[in-house]
Amino acid sequence: LAETVQWQGQTIVLRPIRPEDGPQHLAFVEQLAPQDLRLRFFSARRELPKSELARLTQIDYAREMAFIAVRPADQGREETLGVVRAVTDPDNIEAEFAIIVRSDLKQRGLGRILLHKMIDYLRAHGTQQLVCDVLPENESMRQLARSEGMTLDRNASSGDALRFVRSLL
Ligand SMILES: CC(C)(COP(=O)(O)OP(=O)(O)OC[C@H]1O[C@@H](n2cnc3c(N)ncnc32)[C@H](O)[C@@H]1OP(=O)(O)O)[C@@H](O)C(=O)NCCC(=O)NCCS
Repeated sequence: LAETVQWQGQTIVLRPIRPEDGPQHLAFVEQLAPQDLRLRFFSARRELPKSELARLTQIDYAREMAFIAVRPADQGREETLGVVRAVTDPDNIEAEFAIIVRSDLKQRGLGRILLHKMIDYLRAHGTQQLVCDVLPENESMRQLARSEGMTLDRNASSGDALRFVRSLL
């Protein structure tokens, strides 16, 4: 499931997150602007508890998938640039996803690359529908969702969150 892609003249890798990505993921999260964290997690937060870091990196691949975009860094290490995560219901009808791109790397196409990776994966898995909950003030995500053919599900939306949907069939 790992794949090499060109992004901004660099070679980066898209691959499933692994349990040993904990420290790298923590470093990624620490570089996120509070406002971006709020848009992603729907609540103000300053740091990530250990238990939650474990939940984000040690996932049940049967029901959940998270792809990270990484590039080589110093001393043979790699750094995480962004992540797309989706959780599928037990009947594999619907997958809900969320994306976050490192705050200093936004608006360079990475969010769309990650979303395409997840769409390809879910399609190959036979998942029928894609959904995404977006805060009303999140213009970037609303635009990205619309530009990928997602539409607003008014019945499932409220003032607190807008639900975007799209068929994968
Ligand atoms: C939403 C987010 C993931 C988009 O990632 P990104 O790498 O910045 O987006 P891309 O560069 O791939 O842009 C893809 C499209 O998104 C839309 N978009 C991105 N940034 C935008 C902005 N500031 N204003 C309006 N539209 C924007 C555009 O439609 C853009 O396509 P275009 O460049 O062809 O116009 C990123 O802004 C982010 O991490 N935000 C904070 C966390 C968050 O809100 N996550 C979504 C929760 S579901």
